[in-house]
Amino acid sequence: MNVTLPDAWSLRAALAGLLDGLPPKQAAQAVDRLIADYRGETPTDAPILRDRSDVVAYAAYRMPATFEAVRSALDALRETAPGWAPATHTDVGGGTGAASWAVAGAWEGQRTTVLDWAEPALALGRELADASGVPALLGVRWERARIGQALELAPADLVTVSYVLKELTGRARTELVDAAAAAGQAVVIVEPGTPDGYARIIEARDRLIAAGLRIAAPCPHSAACPIEPGTDWCHFSARVSRSSLHRQVKGGSLSHEDEKFSYVVATRFPTDPAPARVTRRPQIRKGQVLLELCTRDEGLARSTVTKRHGGLYRAARDTAWGDSWPPEDSDG
Ligand SMILES: C[S@@+](CC[C@H](N)C(=O)[O-])C[C@H]1O[C@@H](n2cnc3c(N)ncnc32)[C@H](O)[C@@H]1O
Repeated sequence: MNVTLPDAWSLRAALAGLLDGLPPKQAAQAVDRLIADYRGETPTDAPILRDRSDVVAYAAYRMPATFEAVRSALDALRETAPGWAPATHTDVGGGTGAASWAVAGAWEGQRTTVLDWAEPALALGRELADASGVPALLGVRWERARIGQALELAPADLVTVSYVLKELTGRARTELVDAAAAAGQAVVIVEPGTPDGYARIIEARDRLIAAGLRIAAPCPHSAACPIEPGTDWCHFSARVSRSSLHRQVKGGSLSHEDEKFSYVVATRFPTDPAPARVTRRPQIRKGQVLLELCTRDEGLARSTVTKRHGGLYRAARDTAWGDSWPPEDSDG
């Protein structure tokens, strides 16, 4: 394979070779164990990803989805800071490298370091990166590190933490978020799009703001989240196409699935956050589009865009859950 910027297809191609040499029964057992571990009591004192079949199962079962979720968060950062590009990137709890693939697809030329305590995950991450042929991925440094008080993060333009907070104790979570805030010019944190994933994102968001960063996305402002705790949760959706390998590991025959995720992007440099963001799938009715928005000036708001609005109506029909609103080039 020889590509310059990796995307979902090149990740799938790299993953396709993975189950070679792993009997299907063993792969299925590894997925079952992984699901049980993730449903069970996390955090744990030892890595969940213990051996090669664990990490192969993780990569085949989860990596396409975590890749798409991080990619969406990075797209939001790029939209609010179009001229910015990271020269250095640290992916904490980076596992098999989903966020590193997403970063390598978003910008070129950055030096990435992946930190994780699971050696088999790092080894597989390196293997997948080598198979990509992408210079930014070939140059990734894969380093063993335990998240906790002793973790030292070198200064980096971008720090990513994707699907990791759930696995940590409350204390390790705050230590990690504070360390990321101290080290990063931009910090991107992604969690599952569940009520508790959102709660962890809000806790992290508060700490990032307290550390002097400003929110670039998804929020249109750095003031308190307007969602009353316990009533709702802010989350988004990314479409993940399934390869035959993905179907084999996950079961079912659908060609795609929707990964729900919550995220926050905070920066030390100025950005141009969206005036509002679409927080639900838009409802398209005859001659009108109903949008649920989180706005800079009016908190949560509903907007009905009708044919009378001309260009804005056409833009509303093309708008998706998670997009900024209104689009810059739509005039009414
Ligand atoms: C759900 S996986 C996410 C991996 C990757 N970031 C992604 O988005 O696909 C969680 C990762 O966090 C790592 N992790 C969990 N607790 C850790 C700790 N205390 N120190 C270092 N890594 C940890 C695990 O080994 C695993 O690779």
